[in-house]
Amino acid sequence: MFLLTRSSKNVCTLTLSVPGAVNTIRQEVLENLDRALDAMAADKSCRGLIITTDFDKPGIAGADIKAIHALQQSDDVDAFVKVTEEGKRILGRLSKMPFPTVAAINGAWRGGGFEMALFCNHILGIGGAVQPSVVQLPECMVGLIPGFMGNIHVAQRVARLTDAVEFVAGMKSLKAPEAAELGLIDGLCDNYEQMLASAETYCLMSATSRKILKESLRVQTKWRRSVRTARELKGLFGRKRGKVLMDVVAPSVLEHFSATLVGVAFFYEVLATIIGGPNAYGWIATMLVGPNLLVTLMLALVCAVGSSFDASMRQWLGQMVVLQIKAKTILSGPVSAASLIMQARDVPENVLSGMESQLFAQEARSPFGRGLVSLFVLKSGARDAFAEVAAPEVKHLAVIGAGGPMGAGIAALAAAAESIERLVLVDIDQDALARALRRIEKYLDKSELPEHKKAVALAKIVTAIDYAELADCDVIVEAVPEIEALKRKIYAQIVAVMNARDEQKPWFLLSNTSALDLDNLSSEMGEQAKRFGGLHFFNPPEQMNVVEVGYGCSTTSETMAVGVRLVAAMNKSPLPVFNMRGFKINRELGPYLVMLAHLLAEGVPPEDIDKAIKHSGAPMGPAVLLDKVGADIVASVAKTLLASLGNRMALPADDRNVLAILLKLGDLGEKTGCGIYVWENGKPARDKKGKLIVNPALKAAFPGLGENKTFSREAIQTLLLGAIANEAVRVIEEGVVAPQHRKYGDAAFVLGTGLTGVWGGPIGYLNAMGVRTFARLSRIIARTGNESWRLNFQPCNLLLEHERNGKDLVLDAAPEESRQVV
Ligand code: NAI
Repeated sequence: MFLLTRSSKNVCTLTLSVPGAVNTIRQEVLENLDRALDAMAADKSCRGLIITTDFDKPGIAGADIKAIHALQQSDDVDAFVKVTEEGKRILGRLSKMPFPTVAAINGAWRGGGFEMALFCNHILGIGGAVQPSVVQLPECMVGLIPGFMGNIHVAQRVARLTDAVEFVAGMKSLKAPEAAELGLIDGLCDNYEQMLASAETYCLMSATSRKILKESLRVQTKWRRSVRTARELKGLFGRKRGKVLMDVVAPSVLEHFSATLVGVAFFYEVLATIIGGPNAYGWIATMLVGPNLLVTLMLALVCAVGSSFDASMRQWLGQMVVLQIKAKTILSGPVSAASLIMQARDVPENVLSGMESQLFAQEARSPFGRGLVSLFVLKSGARDAFAEVAAPEVKHLAVIGAGGPMGAGIAALAAAAESIERLVLVDIDQDALARALRRIEKYLDKSELPEHKKAVALAKIVTAIDYAELADCDVIVEAVPEIEALKRKIYAQIVAVMNARDEQKPWFLLSNTSALDLDNLSSEMGEQAKRFGGLHFFNPPEQMNVVEVGYGCSTTSETMAVGVRLVAAMNKSPLPVFNMRGFKINRELGPYLVMLAHLLAEGVPPEDIDKAIKHSGAPMGPAVLLDKVGADIVASVAKTLLASLGNRMALPADDRNVLAILLKLGDLGEKTGCGIYVWENGKPARDKKGKLIVNPALKAAFPGLGENKTFSREAIQTLLLGAIANEAVRVIEEGVVAPQHRKYGDAAFVLGTGLTGVWGGPIGYLNAMGVRTFARLSRIIARTGNESWRLNFQPCNLLLEHERNGKDLVLDAAPEESRQVV
């Protein structure tokens, strides 16, 4: 783990390199560090310690999330406090050693890695344009907060507390120069060797020199920040006058105007403007007589009374910061981190440390902590599914329909997969094949593969129009249009080619279908039906990480093993699913889009719906999603789901059905430039005030659209996410995912849709609300009328059973009725 070396000048270096895994601050690493520090503390000749990561294995990914996941499953409520306190004890030794300690950051030191650096007396990073060091405290991303003094140390280092909040609660990843500007890194070097040499020089400096260096760094940070604050204030009085008071004025007032240094910097900026700026007089006039007069007077007042107001003002600012964060995110971690940071100037460090441990434990046990950590742990999917089943290795792969958006994306992934030696691309004409090749080249260009591997990837490709080229293949992935008759016709041709081969070896056929019945598709394939299955990539395959691997009644475990391993070889997350319309993910997404149509029919503004869903942590709202996917495709999926799931998937009557209206207008979404919104350059257009522009033609054709403002954010979230969660329970009840793979189901839904991610997925959302509350709420919604969508909220038997026993739905439990692969 830590390799201890010693220079001729008796400066020790501890180099971290975790064998066989990414570098993380796991339990063994901390124990290892503790022992190494024991040895160094006892060694009187040691003059300093440099802590770094291996040149060939740079970076520290953070704490060990799997260990946190394991602790979340335990009943010991104090476990997290114990773990953080022990971590702080060990890392805290770095600041109390009888010699100086330096962190030499190479690569990205995130989470616990950067927290370790913050315990050292001095922090160095590589500031060059090529591979600069990176620092980040991303714990809030997984529903936690930094637990090893990260909040407190960052607050102590920066000049402005709101910068610390932005860094921790905003989960900002900073390159070394940006981090140095904030004061999070003390010195920048050009490369690794120079950094180690500077670290040694620091260790050998006299104690007085180190003190002077520290003080001058502190003053520099304040000065830099002051100048910037003054510039920001200037902006406030100028064009950016509307910028929120919180962002600029309050932090500046509270943290700078009581300090002489900042006062000087501010007046320096004013002077510079008067002397050199063309708009200086206008600016002063605005400042004195404009709507900012009040602000100006406030600034002057605070300048005059000095720092005695600081603590109470900071308290007020802290409350403002918390309110602002709450408006942006549903997560509780950023709020906890921010409130801790905003108290950092006024509460003793040991008290803050205790508060941090308690808050860490609270977040780790919260629904968000549990959901996001489980999402992180399970996001690589069921790669070990069917691991016990022997299956041929996939070396020769073919993609039929390679010129389509799905086929080309799948082909690009296959080209980059090292285990695939030959890749045959088949389509109906040369244009389609050229399309496929262009897309593969684009993907490889953007990938991080070294040049020689890109060349290998391209060299393995063969293009063909004639199916005879398939004869050598182990696996054929079919991605032709979603027309059952066409797919079946193609299968007959493939079977004929494969049967005519000289050497008969097993081959597998996997159909990339959204919603066709796998058993129908394979019904004329005879024996080969055993080696037929479904693959459901998401669009675009290169970017979307989850792939459902579907099995019909005849599909064997061997075929599933082939499908799962193929998906894993393409570095995607597989989820085995039973042959059901929409498999698991689209099936759960269906009621969400149907509900969107009903909310729009009720007159709820699309922007309100999108805002509410984005607030729940989704990357985009459902109206933007609909525009991105296309009204035609959503309408066709809705039709399939209506046919298989019945009335509860019915859309509103045609005159109030957004899909029908958009189809009639020919406004299909992003691809036609207009859908629910107007689209420009791949983004929904915004007006001058930053509001999304709703398609005027849709407004004209849809009376009442957007006029009903009675639905609150919470109501919108409950109706849309509740519809998904109810469907997710039905999917469990019907055994769409086999019990042994079910624990991956929630994460797979999040990977495929981005929805309910902060709870780890739909079932996590339901459990967070409480199964009884959720069931009661669903029943109330179901009873409020007789519209078809309300049927989606009728609790199914499994939900009722859990309502009775009050127990959470546990995803790896195995209801007896679940279907298994043959
Ligand atoms: P597409 O219709 O855009 O493209 C299919 C390709 O198949 C075209 O290049 C076409 O020339 C080719 N093709 C047609 N007949 C052929 C034949 N006889 N032999 C060889 N090639 C032939 O289809 P898209 O959108 O790529 O979808 C393919 C499959 O993936 C469909 O089953 C679809 O439901 C499924 N899917 C599509 C998603 C999407 O967002 N587009 C998402 C997930 C699954």
